[in-house]
Amino acid sequence: MGLLTAKLLTIFIFLCCLQLKLEAQKLKTFNKEYPSFDETFFNIFEVEKPATISNAALQVTPDSASSDFNLYNNSGRILLKQPFKLWDGDISNNKSRVASFNSSFLVNIYRPKNETAAEGLAFLISPDLEKPLNSQGQYLGLTNATTDGNATNKVIAVELDTFKQTFDPDDNHIGIDIHSIRSVKYESLSSHGIELAPIGARFYNVWVQYDGIKKILDVYIAEQAEKNGSTPPRPNNPILTYNLDLKNHVNQESYFGFSASTGSNYQLNCVLRWNLTVEYFPDKKHPWLKVVLGVGVPVVVLLLLGAAYLGYIYHRRRIDRSQSNILGALKSLPGTPQEYKFKALKKATNNFDEKNKLGQGGYGVVYRGFLVAEDKDIAVKWFSRESIKGEDDFLAELTIINRLRHKHLVKLLGWCHKNGKLLLVYEYMPNGSLDMHLFSGPDKQPLSWHVRYKIVQGVASALHYLHNEYEQRVVHRDLKASNIMLDSKFNARLGDFGLARALDNERTSYAEAEGVLGTMGYIAPECFHTGKATSQSDVYAFGAVLLEVVCGQRPGIKVNGFQFFVDWVWYLHRDGRILEAVDQRLGDDYVAEEAKKLLLLGLACSHPIASERPKTQTIVQIISGSAPAPEVPPFKPAFVWPSMMPMDIDSSVMDTTSITTSNFNSGWSLDYQSRETPSYADHPNSLV
Ligand SMILES: *[C@@H]1O[C@H](CO)[C@@H](O)[C@H](O)[C@H]1NC(C)=O
Ligand SMILES: *[C@@H]1O[C@H](CO)[C@@H](O)[C@H](O)[C@H]1NC(C)=O
Ligand SMILES: *[C@@H]1O[C@H](CO)[C@@H](O)[C@H](O)[C@H]1NC(C)=O
Ligand SMILES: *[C@@H]1O[C@H](CO)[C@@H](O)[C@H](O)[C@H]1NC(C)=O
Ligand SMILES: *[C@@H]1O[C@H](CO)[C@@H](O)[C@H](O)[C@H]1NC(C)=O
Ligand SMILES: *[C@@H]1O[C@H](CO)[C@@H](O)[C@H](O)[C@H]1NC(C)=O
Ligand SMILES: *[C@@H]1O[C@H](CO)[C@@H](O)[C@H](O)[C@H]1NC(C)=O
Ligand SMILES: *[C@@H]1O[C@H](CO)[C@@H](O)[C@H](O)[C@H]1NC(C)=O
Ligand SMILES: [Mg+2]
Repeated sequence: MGLLTAKLLTIFIFLCCLQLKLEAQKLKTFNKEYPSFDETFFNIFEVEKPATISNAALQVTPDSASSDFNLYNNSGRILLKQPFKLWDGDISNNKSRVASFNSSFLVNIYRPKNETAAEGLAFLISPDLEKPLNSQGQYLGLTNATTDGNATNKVIAVELDTFKQTFDPDDNHIGIDIHSIRSVKYESLSSHGIELAPIGARFYNVWVQYDGIKKILDVYIAEQAEKNGSTPPRPNNPILTYNLDLKNHVNQESYFGFSASTGSNYQLNCVLRWNLTVEYFPDKKHPWLKVVLGVGVPVVVLLLLGAAYLGYIYHRRRIDRSQSNILGALKSLPGTPQEYKFKALKKATNNFDEKNKLGQGGYGVVYRGFLVAEDKDIAVKWFSRESIKGEDDFLAELTIINRLRHKHLVKLLGWCHKNGKLLLVYEYMPNGSLDMHLFSGPDKQPLSWHVRYKIVQGVASALHYLHNEYEQRVVHRDLKASNIMLDSKFNARLGDFGLARALDNERTSYAEAEGVLGTMGYIAPECFHTGKATSQSDVYAFGAVLLEVVCGQRPGIKVNGFQFFVDWVWYLHRDGRILEAVDQRLGDDYVAEEAKKLLLLGLACSHPIASERPKTQTIVQIISGSAPAPEVPPFKPAFVWPSMMPMDIDSSVMDTTSITTSNFNSGWSLDYQSRETPSYADHPNSLV
């Protein structure tokens, strides 16, 4: 009897171990098709400047020049933000399998007519999202003079190389690069009838396939007849084959995407379509399981009974682990904000009913809700998961936001965090946002002068508080009419302060659904160069808001041939007719002296040179009447920037016409413009 039990036990344990072992080896599959690209991809791709997404393509190096950069000597990267675990277990074990992947993409490498193309475009697997410094020219955005060839790069790439370096076979080859731009294997393409960067547009589909069991990397390439045509069948024979164990070369957690560069010559590096399948390892096992396996707990029954529970715990842990930090710290926050149950918010918003949607921003969707228990109206902001950059950053920011208390800031009531979902609960603002009232159309009563003045005063005092009165300076970063909420008494309440830094992106809410245009005119010119928001750039945005409130015109609007609204106001000022800028809908119902003061202040805040703009303290004093209106020069001062590269605008413009007309439909654009003022719309990614 004892023997039988022992045997049974052994079998049980064996089966259990086998079960768990198999579980551990199970791979997950990521499978996505990107048949085209648009603005929304800024959320899922890390777009390393000056790379951008435009004209329905990934422009891995820019497709147009601007005052920030020209087309030469650039490198860029565009990577999927999601990392993949590519191998598991002991690094010295050469027998275990690694992840497999298939990637297939359509490229258009375009060179300007009859000039030399350079340098190349690569599909890469990278340990991080950043591109190395000085990776332009021969380095293809992969490495640089310091790091090239160093195994610590952990980079593997398939290069489409269009410029011959001394170590290259020619200027038209495909190669496999491991840690270095000196390919471990390459193939010249001319003899295959392929010209990567011909005169005129041609499209190539490239397949990069890796078998993680056989550990073979295969690369295929075929021409696709038309940009919008169907993908050609994959050739039977790879153009390159290479035996490669990913484990020896890449980080366990790696990213997939593209990099490219230009040099003393340039080309446009466009990716038009992309399919990616990765069979990757799920996140690390809970150490628990290892212990169970190692000790081989004799109590099989317990093990079996526990299995279901364990599975549950394991599942929960995996979901929770990523954000347990946020949760922990949020819970320990002092002060009033409370944690809400997801269920409660769901109920309050009628299951996040479309009808309760108040708006959609760069960070997520805002719903209106009503908490029956507290008899309170709320606004619930549900963050889109992808837009949260780093938990720690987010947390840091949230603790600050939480401590900010001012009567002209929208109050944070609480938060909810469940299964990776993050929601913030704010006071509900019955009168919506300022822009809804300023631009409501002729049927609605325009805001009275008195109310407008009160709003401006409120915003100024909130901004002053953010910049000075709290121990840690908070830059709003995204001040604009749609972020100024109005309470039941039409008092201004600033929303979304401080969020931009914590939440993803270079782009902050310039990516909002309303589009880049919605933010045009609020961004200070220096931001295009420094990429940083400052209290001075907040003041610039405040100036735009001032003019908006007084004139009832959006800052980005073109009036009488002036590119921006502010330029027109400046012109009126010079002519001594500044009051003509006041909102027509007010008729004569405004206080001329106040209007003039606000308009001059708006111009002063719009000074192209950051250091010349007034501080919030002065702004508050001017509005309250304790300081005189600012002196404003009759001509808008010129924007100067020390690092601005001299650009031969005329010759670029000539290029445009010749190139765009003949190749209108090929997936790239040469969108040169004379950019006295940087064009916001073309380079959204170059904004903070
Ligand atoms: C695994 O393979 C790599 C490269 O093929 C080799 O350098 C290394 O020595 C191998 N490790 C073991 C433990 O066999
Ligand atoms: C990649 O494609 C091949 C066929 O070309 C297929 O056998 C393999 O399973 C695919 N691998 C992945 C990870 O999808
Ligand atoms: C991506 O996959 C879809 C479906 O299999 C296919 O129709 C399309 O041609 C593929 N695109 C590329 C670039 O391989
Ligand atoms: C291209 O330029 C070369 C010299 O750089 C010249 O010999 C050739 O005729 C030009 N071809 C065309 C099509 O303009
Ligand atoms: C190469 O890149 C690394 C990482 O970005 C950087 O630290 C280093 O300074 C760069 N080297 C050169 C020569 O720019
Ligand atoms: C490779 O890079 C590491 C750290 O980045 C450095 O310590 C090492 O010296 C480099 N090796 C070579 C050969 O340059
Ligand atoms: C592709 O584009 C060309 C030119 O724009 C057009 O004539 C053709 O009908 C399109 N083909 C498809 C399949 O959409
Ligand atoms: C690009 O860089 C190279 C090498 O640093 C330099 O010689 C060349 O003048 C640069 N070209 C442009 C257009 O900036
Ligand atoms: Mg090469």
